[in-house]
Formats: sequence, C-alpha cells, structure tokens
Amino acid sequence: MSTSNTAPALALPILDEALAERLRTRMAAVEVALTGHARSEADFVTEAARHLMEAGGKRFRPLLVLLAAETGDRADSDDVVTAACVVELTHLASLYHDDVMDEADLRRGADSANARWDNHVAILTGDWLFSKSSELTADLGPDAVRIQAQTFSRLVEGQILETVKPGPGVAPIDHYLRVVAGKTGSLIATSARYGARFGGATDEVEEALAEYGEMVGSAFQLSDDILDIASETDESGKTPGTDLREGVMTLPVLMALESSDDSDARLHELLRGDLADDALLAETLELLRTHPAMDRARRYVIDRATEAKARLAALPAGPVRDALEAFADAVAVRSA
Ligand code: IPE
Ligand code: IPE
Ligand code: MG
Ligand code: MG
Repeated sequence: MSTSNTAPALALPILDEALAERLRTRMAAVEVALTGHARSEADFVTEAARHLMEAGGKRFRPLLVLLAAETGDRADSDDVVTAACVVELTHLASLYHDDVMDEADLRRGADSANARWDNHVAILTGDWLFSKSSELTADLGPDAVRIQAQTFSRLVEGQILETVKPGPGVAPIDHYLRVVAGKTGSLIATSARYGARFGGATDEVEEALAEYGEMVGSAFQLSDDILDIASETDESGKTPGTDLREGVMTLPVLMALESSDDSDARLHELLRGDLADDALLAETLELLRTHPAMDRARRYVIDRATEAKARLAALPAGPVRDALEAFADAVAVRSA
C-alpha cells in the first residue's frame, strides 16, 4: 500500500524529488506510529496526549532523524522510525511543560493543555508522554536510553536555567546561549545522532551530524526567539510577545540592552519593568522590531547556521547533504 497520497507536507523544501518522496512516505509511517504510541487505557489520558499531537506541529525533529538516516546504509530500518517517534514524543512532552512555565494559551494553533484543562493535566500529560518516549527508547537498546536520558536532563537544565539569573562573572548573553543549547540544541543534536546511528552511518558521520544538530538546534531556538518579537500575528500557532511577557530576555533583547544610545532610554526603561501590561508590552515590541539589534541577532543566527553547514564536510556530496544544508538555511531564516 502506498502512503504517499496521504503523506504530510515536509517542513522543508527538498529539491531531489526521489529523496522528498522517500521522506514523505517515511514521515507518514512515523505519524501512524506516533498515534499508536499516544494511546492509554484511560481514555482521558489518550485525549490529553493526542490533543497537541493532532493539533499539528512541524515535525522538524523526526524529519531530521529520517534525513540523517539517509547518510547510512539502513535508512529503511524500523529503528529509524522508532527513533523519530522518540524525539517527537520527548519534544511534545517538553511543550506541555513549557506552556505551563510560560503561562501560554495557544500552542500549534490550538488551546494549550493548561488553557484547555489546567496545569496539573498539562504537567502530568507531559510526564506521561516522556515516559512513553522512554519506554519506546528501550526498544533501541541501552545506549539509546542513556542518550535520551542525558538529552532530557540537558533540556530540563536549560529550561530551569532560563528562570534564574546568570551566575557571577557570566555575561547575560553567554548565560542565554547556554540555556538555548540545553533546552533546544540538545534534542535536535540527538535527532541527528539517532538518525545517523540507526540508519547505519559511520561513527565519523554520526559525530559530525550530532555537532551539526547541536548548532542547527541553537539556531532554530534563536530564530524562534526573533520571531516571538518580529511576528505581528499568531500565524506561528503561538502568541507573539510571550517571552517578554514572561520576563525571558532573548538574544535580540540582550543585544538591544548592550546599546548605550540615548534614543534607547525608553526601551531600556520598559525592559527593566514588568511587561505583563498589554499596552507596555505592545510599546516594547514596537520599539524592538525596528531596533538594529534585530538585524544583529539575525546575522548571529545565520553565522551559526553557516558553522553548522561546515560540519557537513564529513559527508559525501549529493542530495542528502544538499538537503541538510537547506535545512540549516531554512532554520536561520524561519518565518514560522
Ligand atoms: C517549539 O518547537 C519549541 C522550540 C524549541 C522553539 P517547534 O517550533 O519545533 O514546535 P512544533 O513542534 O513545530 O509545534
Ligand atoms: C521552549 O522554548 C523550549 C522547549 C520546549 C524545550 P520557548 O518557550 O521559546 O518555546 P515556544 O516559543 O513556547 O515554542
Ligand atoms: Mg514557551
Ligand atoms: Mg519562543
């Protein structure tokens, strides 16, 4: 049976049609498997766990698993699909928790779980999804379990560090880059590593792809942070301005705070205050959107994506490497 007619659109334009078709077919298999994994004997748990899974999402991490697997000689193995499910379930678990932290109402264009139910349901559903992801990882062997556990501890450390000030002698930007590498770089690095490993790539390619994933992952988060300020609508399926409202100072904000220009006095005053007030938040966003720090931050992200692409020198030239390069470029100039 061909699944290509129902296969989801890929989150990345891929020029090589044969590769794109293979990835669409494999993503369709991942979707079917994901739905199966989010099933509990308790109907309410199934409903809560499938709520955000069915709301959409770009499936960026499982796509990276599938694409990285194409560098090996076993890209078609069942383990690759399992690994793709592991990373998406881990990611999904983190979204349930993140929306509690950020008091977010909107996720993937739907009510967040905390808004639809409450914080308890959101936190426990996140825990349940994480445990499903761990159970599934056991099918991939003890090394994969260790990697997934280490990845999740880095992710959670990143989320926790976001809520505390930099330690003594640590520059705010360096603290933030550490947060970003932990909360997002870690899982995207593991997506690339799992793909290479379970697709049968060499150790050298696996290491190169893990480094690539770490950098692409940080660039992905920094782009997301820029979009949180730059987008004027909720077309991302989330509410823009959430980071500032929650007092999270992201890269463009930290860069704007470095300026000592007199014309920035009002912006600095707003940023030092409480942005829970809608009018003050709107004023801050407007000042930031036209601030040169936005372009500085965008250039920084493009430089990280360029560094990531350099890691691909370990791969043979061809459509798979081209697609991985396009992946890094798409992350650096995301619009959604
Ligand atoms: C959202 O991740 C959380 C971040 C790391 C920025 P995604 O942007 O991949 O979210 P979905 O899966 O597409 O909803
Ligand atoms: C979320 O960071 C990172 C994780 C979920 C681990 P954000 O708070 O920036 O993500 P969004 O913007 O809510 O998706
Ligand atoms: Mg958030
Ligand atoms: Mg964000």
